[in-house]
Amino acid sequence: MLCGLMSLAFSFKEAAVATPTRGCSEVEQDALLAFKANVKDPSNRLASWSPRIDCCKWSGVVCRSSKASNATLFQGQLHVVELNLENPNVHTALRGEILSPSLLNLTRLERLDLSGNDFEGTPIPHFIGSFQKLKYLELYGSNFSGVIPSQLGNLSSLYHLGLQSTMDAIPIGSPLDWLSGLSSLRFLDLTFVNLSTVSQSWLSVVNMLPSLRELYLFDCNLNHIPSSFSSHLNLTSLLILEIRYNDFNSTIPNWLCNLTKLSTLYFDGNSLFGPIPIEIATLSRLRELYLGGNNLTGSIPTSIGNLTSLISLNLFRN
Ligand SMILES: *[C@@H]1O[C@H](CO)[C@@H](O)[C@H](O)[C@H]1NC(C)=O
Ligand SMILES: *[C@@H]1O[C@H](CO)[C@@H](O)[C@H](O)[C@H]1NC(C)=O
Ligand SMILES: *[C@@H]1O[C@H](CO)[C@@H](O)[C@H](O)[C@H]1NC(C)=O
Ligand SMILES: *[C@@H]1O[C@H](CO)[C@@H](O)[C@H](O)[C@H]1NC(C)=O
Ligand SMILES: *[C@@H]1O[C@H](CO)[C@@H](O)[C@H](O)[C@H]1NC(C)=O
Ligand SMILES: *[C@@H]1O[C@H](CO)[C@@H](O)[C@H](O)[C@H]1NC(C)=O
Ligand SMILES: *[C@@H]1O[C@H](CO)[C@@H](O)[C@H](O)[C@H]1NC(C)=O
Ligand SMILES: *[C@@H]1O[C@H](CO)[C@@H](O)[C@H](O)[C@H]1NC(C)=O
Ligand SMILES: *[C@@H]1O[C@H](CO)[C@@H](O)[C@H](O)[C@H]1NC(C)=O
Ligand SMILES: *[C@@H]1O[C@H](CO)[C@@H](O)[C@H](O)[C@H]1NC(C)=O
Repeated sequence: MLCGLMSLAFSFKEAAVATPTRGCSEVEQDALLAFKANVKDPSNRLASWSPRIDCCKWSGVVCRSSKASNATLFQGQLHVVELNLENPNVHTALRGEILSPSLLNLTRLERLDLSGNDFEGTPIPHFIGSFQKLKYLELYGSNFSGVIPSQLGNLSSLYHLGLQSTMDAIPIGSPLDWLSGLSSLRFLDLTFVNLSTVSQSWLSVVNMLPSLRELYLFDCNLNHIPSSFSSHLNLTSLLILEIRYNDFNSTIPNWLCNLTKLSTLYFDGNSLFGPIPIEIATLSRLRELYLGGNNLTGSIPTSIGNLTSLISLNLFRN
């Protein structure tokens, strides 16, 4: 009985807070409608995107009340902070080209996920670099192609950047330097992006990202990994390093053994030669070590027996 009363009181209180809610602003609603008008949506995934419905209730849209703005003036005003339009099924993709920068009117946007849609080989719009509060950007497999716009380097709050399979290439003369502006980055996925033209500099660029925990550079046409590292190694927070199926033709660099937090190292499918360094055992947290499909020689160092967390060891085809 007491419990019932308490929950009743509680729901009254919640209702009192919730009543003045006005939903998202007209400007934000119009920005979303302009986006909708631009893309093809053959399976009607955006059916709920109608002016008759509060846009905070539209599918994929997440709003939050703004604490920062003046609460007395904008009581109950919500802002769009997430746009989650990831598409799990190839048959329900949004299609077309994002021509209009209308989305920039979502000035509080923190999370944008367009993965799995089909932007028909058009370039990633430069304006994405102008979302000042963006923290999470995922464009995995969305059939963008061309050049990754350097404007993304302006997204200084970004902690997640997923561009897997989006691009054809980083063209010659277009360095990756802009990445170093993303100093909060914890997750970077450039899998299947052709990085051959930045083979010499990729490591010094990612070394500018001291918060990086997960780095995925699977099949990126990289061919150079320095065997020694004279400057300070910033990458010591790294937990997952995936650099498999590149064209690295060198020995296993010793500095890798300084990445002592690594739990996953995928370095298979390259042209690595020489021995597996004894110091590999310094990576005491390793759970997965993949070195197969290289040209490694010599005996397997017994120190590998010290890797007590290891659950998967792959040395085949050496
Ligand atoms: C909030 O509104 C009050 C009253 O209109 C005003 O005095 C104050 O400066 C405003 N604060 C901000 C941060 O805009
Ligand atoms: C943002 O909204 C304003 C007011 O509706 C409009 O004039 C402007 O063109 C919009 N900006 C973009 C980039 O679409
Ligand atoms: C990507 O877009 C191009 C151009 O429209 C199209 O030919 C291709 O089939 C698309 N690829 C995928 C995987 O959807
Ligand atoms: C955004 O990036 C571009 C290209 O890197 C640069 O020219 C521009 O000044 C940047 N804008 C801001 C606001 O930082
Ligand atoms: C990668 O890009 C380089 C430079 O643009 C090009 O020469 C090379 O053929 C590309 N490799 C693949 C596998 O597409
Ligand atoms: C390490 O990262 C910091 C912060 O991004 C940067 O200022 C510094 O130059 C980096 N060190 C090296 C050797 O790249
Ligand atoms: C790696 O660690 C060793 C020993 O702790 C140290 O002497 C060396 O300078 C480190 N190398 C780099 C590149 O940080
Ligand atoms: C790797 O480099 C060595 C010389 O350092 C060379 O003999 C070998 O053919 C190269 N292998 C590949 C696959 O490029
Ligand atoms: C291994 O080395 C041999 C001789 O240098 C070379 O022909 C072969 O392509 C290499 N294999 C791989 C997987 O790098
Ligand atoms: C492996 O562990 C043994 C003791 O368990 C220790 O004596 C040895 O130095 C370790 N080897 C390496 C390479 O860490």
